[in-house]
Amino acid sequence: MARSLGYVCQECGARSPVSMGRCPSCGAWGSLVAEEAPAQIVKGGRGGSPRALTTTRLGDVADAELVRYSSGDAEMDRVLGGGWVVGSAALLAGEPGIGKSTLLLQLAEHAVSAGRTVLYVAGEESPAQVRMRAERVGLASGMQLTRENDATVIAAHLSAAAPDLVIVDSIQTLTTEPGGVPGTLTSLRDSTALLVEAAKSAGCVLVLIGHVTKQGSIAGPKVIEHVVDATFALESAAGLRVVRAIKNRFGPAGEVSVFEMTRSGMLAVTNPSEAFLAERPKGAPGSVVVAALEGQRPLLLEVQALASKSPYAAPRRVVQGLDARRVDVVLAVLERRIDLPLEALDVFVNVAGGLRITDPGADLAVAVAVYSAVTNRAAPEDVAFVGEIGLAGELRSVGQLGRRLEEARRAGHPRLVGPRSADLPDGVRTLQEALLLLWGPR
Ligand code: TYD
Ligand code: MG
Repeated sequence: MARSLGYVCQECGARSPVSMGRCPSCGAWGSLVAEEAPAQIVKGGRGGSPRALTTTRLGDVADAELVRYSSGDAEMDRVLGGGWVVGSAALLAGEPGIGKSTLLLQLAEHAVSAGRTVLYVAGEESPAQVRMRAERVGLASGMQLTRENDATVIAAHLSAAAPDLVIVDSIQTLTTEPGGVPGTLTSLRDSTALLVEAAKSAGCVLVLIGHVTKQGSIAGPKVIEHVVDATFALESAAGLRVVRAIKNRFGPAGEVSVFEMTRSGMLAVTNPSEAFLAERPKGAPGSVVVAALEGQRPLLLEVQALASKSPYAAPRRVVQGLDARRVDVVLAVLERRIDLPLEALDVFVNVAGGLRITDPGADLAVAVAVYSAVTNRAAPEDVAFVGEIGLAGELRSVGQLGRRLEEARRAGHPRLVGPRSADLPDGVRTLQEALLLLWGPR
């Protein structure tokens, strides 16, 4: 007998013991659906005495050899951690219209040209639509297409035919039983489990496309993130498309690659720093360039700050694209160590273009941007900044300083202000010193 496990929101995966009209977690209406436990895991459902647990000594486990091949696109290989891994499963998540189908269709074509077999499961669009897109991006492909939405049928095909690359567009169109409803959490989870299992044993590379909601929560796909080996997010920033490795069992997480959506498909952007700085206002107070590192990639980005007299008793701190708590710390350091009066000011800080950065090395750029905004003095045009700021106002070293320096030079910012080190012998030790270097005594 199936036992009820309560109710699960089909949008965000939140659970509730009772049925409700609106999800208490994400606020979606009518999204709670009763969930039943599969018969075999129900207590007593199996009968008989339990099997003995088998274990293996870790040292005796055979080395699994990673077999990789290039995706055919150097930008994509970077974010994949060196290419596709045979027998692995990845999720590419992104908002509708961001370019997931286009990117994967191109990658599918690369695989075909390299002599690999490709199956494209096009559940969202008719084969004719896929063909139209293929023509638009200039492909005349030998890949196999199907509109199947039953994951068991697809899984059986993977086991029998073992195509090298399988693209499912999208996982939200699949179910595991005839008449099942695609897109529910159960369908998502069960279809994913089936396909991942089949792809692993057949040695296919499986790529699932997943939609995320406009709010950016990975909604449905969140529940399958732990089943796949890697999760990539496709986002837009400064008019470009950024693929970010959220999780990757076979490569560094946080890695990014940058593309541009052109009239004939996605094109790798080889000089993203220039692209992200293209619209930077010249000589504007509050605009500062940071030599950031996302994943293993040095990137020059513009940090912007604005300070204005606050009408509120508790002034606002509005942060976009950066860790808001880190920015709070930087503001506190500016107030206490530099005596910058911020208590009556609303402060806005963002990364121009809408890219998100997680690099603590952005602290100095944030501090300089805020200082520049408050004092209404622009920072020198050709300087880039890097460094983590400690509570005493000291500048702390950051990873890969040499590579950041190289990128800054390459992208037209030959002067780097950052923590003093072997790579940066004329660097500074404190935030105070950095400000003194830029603008002299206050
Ligand atoms: P698409 O790959 O269908 O997005 P997703 O699968 O993430 O929903 O791409 C959607 C948009 O991209 C669509 O508005 C049309 C545009 N586009 C281009 O600009 N150039 C192209 O070559 C293609 C194929 C699409
Ligand atoms: Mg699509």
